[in-house]
Amino acid sequence: MTRIKKIGVLTSGGDAPGMNAAIRAVVRTALYNKLEVIGIRQGYEGLINGDFKPMTSYEVSNIIGKGGTILFSARSKEFRTEEGRKKAYDQMAANDMDALVVIGGDGTFSGARIFSQEYNIPVIGIPGTIDNDLYGTDYTIGFDTALNTITEAVDKIRDTANAHNRLFFIEVMGRDAGFVALRSGIATGAEAILIPEKETHLQELESYLEKGYQNNKSSGIVIVAEGDKSGGAYTIAKEMEKKHPEYDIRVSVLGHMQRGGAPSAFDRVTASTLGVAAVEALLDDQKSIMVGMVNGEVTHVPFNKTIKNKKSVKFSYLHIHEMLAL
Ligand code: F6P
Repeated sequence: MTRIKKIGVLTSGGDAPGMNAAIRAVVRTALYNKLEVIGIRQGYEGLINGDFKPMTSYEVSNIIGKGGTILFSARSKEFRTEEGRKKAYDQMAANDMDALVVIGGDGTFSGARIFSQEYNIPVIGIPGTIDNDLYGTDYTIGFDTALNTITEAVDKIRDTANAHNRLFFIEVMGRDAGFVALRSGIATGAEAILIPEKETHLQELESYLEKGYQNNKSSGIVIVAEGDKSGGAYTIAKEMEKKHPEYDIRVSVLGHMQRGGAPSAFDRVTASTLGVAAVEALLDDQKSIMVGMVNGEVTHVPFNKTIKNKKSVKFSYLHIHEMLAL
């Protein structure tokens, strides 16, 4: 028999579509198993300040298809301090909370790991970030929706690029990783994809684009990951403009629209699966782990492992792109 009776759930870091579906799954699975659930608003900030709300089944009705997070999110500086974490622990103790489910990315899990160690509190992480940059899971919640959003936006930009015979540099999010850029580049048939994991050589890019123009391409799309070492879409576009004044170049930075919108069916299913898995892991006396998906199956990955290891992009996608781009 498990001793856990009341759990807290929070979302932290950058929001991602599907976080609500994960909250719903955590709340409903907990209630199904006769646990009480407290919703913690504003991530770890809310844990420190006692911004709590008891969650009923009704509280999570009609949220599976909504973007953002009903619990709000924050990046808490105070939780990085011992004093902040002590306040958070006191709030949990005062409210009889025995365990936590945290939904977020690596920053969220780093905080969770220390907190769990310091106060011996079971904490389970659910990967929620559009960046898909977490080791130990094939997908993070929000990644698929962001790819669909980007694909729709770039398809539209392609229409106007074609009409004017223009070359577009489109910057996508992903922090310091190229997962978002690589997949969205393939999905949109981009002429080139620039990611931080591969050095960008201007000459290589030039010959790529020139080949396209020789092949009578009427437009060009270059997807640039925000973390690309060449300095982002504006910088690389400027350099290209200097060398090729004959190209009609434009830049588009997609920005935070990539984080919004209704989650895709894939993200909803992943979020639901991982939400259930997180609560079941707590009932199974697990602590300090992330629940992830590998080859379609749920996995349990110690926070230590997911924080210390770097997930690698699939370089085979670069090969696929090379075959298909020109
Ligand atoms: O981690 C998600 C993410 O959207 C990154 O892709 C991006 O670098 C960052 O968050 C942006 O953060 P903020 O919303 O604080 O500007």
